[in-house]
Amino acid sequence: MWQQIHRTARRRTEAVRIRSKAGTFHALAFGRNSGKAGSGSLPTDSRSEPDSVLCAQLCNTFDGFERFFFGSRTSSCPRWFKVSPRHAIGASHQLIGETNMSRLINKVALVTGASSGIGRATAKLFAAEGANVVIGARRQSELDSLVKEIEQAGGQAVALAGDVRSEAYAKALVDLAVTRFGQLDVAFNNAGTLGEAGASTEVSEAGWNETLAINLTGSFLGAKHQVAQMLKNGGGSVIFTSTFVGHSFAFPGVAAYAASKSGLIGLTQALAAEFGPQGVRVNAVLPGAVDTDMYRDMNNTAESQAFVTNLHALKRVATPEELARSVLYFASDDSAFVTGTASLVDGGASITRT
Ligand SMILES: NC(=O)c1ccc[n+]([C@@H]2O[C@H](COP(=O)([O-])OP(=O)(O)OC[C@H]3O[C@@H](n4cnc5c(N)ncnc54)[C@H](OP(=O)(O)O)[C@@H]3O)[C@@H](O)[C@H]2O)c1
Repeated sequence: MWQQIHRTARRRTEAVRIRSKAGTFHALAFGRNSGKAGSGSLPTDSRSEPDSVLCAQLCNTFDGFERFFFGSRTSSCPRWFKVSPRHAIGASHQLIGETNMSRLINKVALVTGASSGIGRATAKLFAAEGANVVIGARRQSELDSLVKEIEQAGGQAVALAGDVRSEAYAKALVDLAVTRFGQLDVAFNNAGTLGEAGASTEVSEAGWNETLAINLTGSFLGAKHQVAQMLKNGGGSVIFTSTFVGHSFAFPGVAAYAASKSGLIGLTQALAAEFGPQGVRVNAVLPGAVDTDMYRDMNNTAESQAFVTNLHALKRVATPEELARSVLYFASDDSAFVTGTASLVDGGASITRT
């Protein structure tokens, strides 16, 4: 069975999910005649670009490809490293890539803050890796369009809109995972806010409380119900989105944000110690700057973006997709012996003084 999950508008490059006797895998195919029906596209007109540029786009989009092979074509791109015609499927398809995108096959994953940014990218990656995904945030329409996108790509997702400050919402997300997909294996507590910024002597009690309620208490309430469910399955993986701010790097004017996100590291350690014996792993990712709505709201001038970019050893900020790949590591069995960690994914911001 073929399911197209992406296609360039012009060149008709396709990524397909193929179910065969050998199992489920993803593949890329291109050629003028590779016209399987479906929707979704890579963002550029790649018709006039050299193969290596197209390859880079595809490799970035579908990271995780283990083997690449070609029907009748070769490419100069070093990431398309293995040439083999053996997987050409059908006369109209030149199959050029195969992947092992199955790190979350048969898993059910819950993602909060999935309406944009890091959460959205992670929900998409989890689904592409085979997970059935439950997504949450307050904005219903963004969640609905993400569900549609995941389904069009051949995955399964269900959305429930709500506010992570509500314990009833935390429980409802878990209940939805169980009623719709039967279990819960992975929970990414990612919803967050910068909250009230400014001199700490001026921050209001309400602003402080709101920031902690969303970033710290909201994550705790989520984990409380997620872990309880995971214990019934014999284990699982809980991941929190913390930050380098307030851990390895201090900025003035964001005390509530820093305190709430640092609190997640203590929570990570406490839960990891408490539930490790029953097979629940708990980790926190600490992103550097990531190009999302939150980052752009905070850094809305070219000067500010240049300043933040320069803080990182890599001299750039991350894409949401890069963060998603780090989260995938903690979600999957690749990190089976990793728990209680606060993992910097910060482009070297913490070790940079220039
Ligand atoms: N971007 C960065 O540079 C950076 C760096 C380090 C850490 N982080 C952390 O990464 C996480 C994701 O942020 P992002 O950068 O991807 O920004 P974003 O695009 O603004 O995403 C924030 C997400 O949190 C959700 N959210 C906020 N308040 C909520 C609430 N009360 N209830 C439910 N959902 C809520 C938002 O959805 P709705 O508005 O639809 O509710 C949205 O989906 C945050 O925890 C943030 O602190 C970001």
